[in-house]
Amino acid sequence: MNIELKIYDESYQNDAISLFKNMYLELVYAIPYLPKDDEMMKQIDISIQHIFKYGTGVMAFMDKKLVGYFLGYSVPQLFGPVKGIYSPMVGHAANKEYRRLIYAKMLEFSLKNWVDQGYLSFATTLLAHDKGVLKEFNITGFGMRCMDSIRKTSRINTCVDDVIIHKAEVKDLADISVLHQYHHEYYRSSPIFMPREPEDALADINEWMSHENHHLWIAKKDNQAIGYIRIQPNGESIVSHNHQVMNVTGLYVLEVCRNSGVASLLLDVVQQFLIEQKVDLCGVDFETLNQRAYQFWNRYFIPYTMSVARRIDERVIS
Ligand SMILES: CC(C)(COP(=O)(O)OP(=O)(O)OC[C@H]1O[C@@H](n2cnc3c(N)ncnc32)[C@H](O)[C@@H]1OP(=O)(O)O)[C@@H](O)C(=O)NCCC(=O)NCCS
Repeated sequence: MNIELKIYDESYQNDAISLFKNMYLELVYAIPYLPKDDEMMKQIDISIQHIFKYGTGVMAFMDKKLVGYFLGYSVPQLFGPVKGIYSPMVGHAANKEYRRLIYAKMLEFSLKNWVDQGYLSFATTLLAHDKGVLKEFNITGFGMRCMDSIRKTSRINTCVDDVIIHKAEVKDLADISVLHQYHHEYYRSSPIFMPREPEDALADINEWMSHENHHLWIAKKDNQAIGYIRIQPNGESIVSHNHQVMNVTGLYVLEVCRNSGVASLLLDVVQQFLIEQKVDLCGVDFETLNQRAYQFWNRYFIPYTMSVARRIDERVIS
């Protein structure tokens, strides 16, 4: 079969929206509680219109019909001091038939165009259900970096002796800021290696708490702060913005207190709160490079996206 590749063209935006929605509904078939209401469909429309306006990329055609698109946003520095392209979950889709082949062709064509323009770092968020697409990115040199995951709000059966959890108030923020600082620095460690600028942890957590519908809990043992968890209405993916979803955006337990159920207990307290608030879904995004997070979240949540990244050797353009 003949797949024709072209630079993207805004006039195909509505066809692209249909392609993406079909793919998203395949994901919903695999995870039936994912949002699929009018709000979600509208959010998909807006996000695809945005990337067609401000992004760059390619389209694939068979018999003059759009069968795939792959667009991303230009990022001045992506995972290092080189310019890159980030393609979010709505940034690409392809017909179910020949999907892997269409992606292979779009990757070859788009990477050539982008590398010719000096882009050397690439990240793409893939819908988690299609392992063929993931494989195509993997064999093209893209490695796993992060995930968005979700669970239906429900209690977690756990119990930890001598640990007390309560909802944090302003007077708790000084204690939490010490843990928040450790958490911030943790991402520099092996095997994560994410550079982090020094920050004022107390100012940061105070600022975070000042926003509406941001909630924080602290775990204490012998009156010492040993862990915290926080939730908010928005995470990073468009699914996380849906009104049915609240998102965990921070969880940390002191190293000496790990592996005894403290984080599970914190998560259970969040579940109780969300049940009371009638929030049906709980989301989280995390670095898969962070082995502890990968292990922990996969125990309680189902991944709905996987983000992959590739850094190209700069000598190819020198
Ligand atoms: C990820 C993190 C929060 C987990 O905290 P934790 O308190 O060790 O988590 P838990 O104790 O609930 O679960 C860890 C292990 O303890 C075991 N465990 C022991 N007692 C338990 C109990 N009573 N209830 C539940 N789990 C228990 C679990 O089975 C689990 O084992 P597994 O990892 O082999 O599946 C912690 O490692 C951490 O702070 N990491 C650094 C920061 C970080 O990565 N944060 C996540 C941000 S996205």
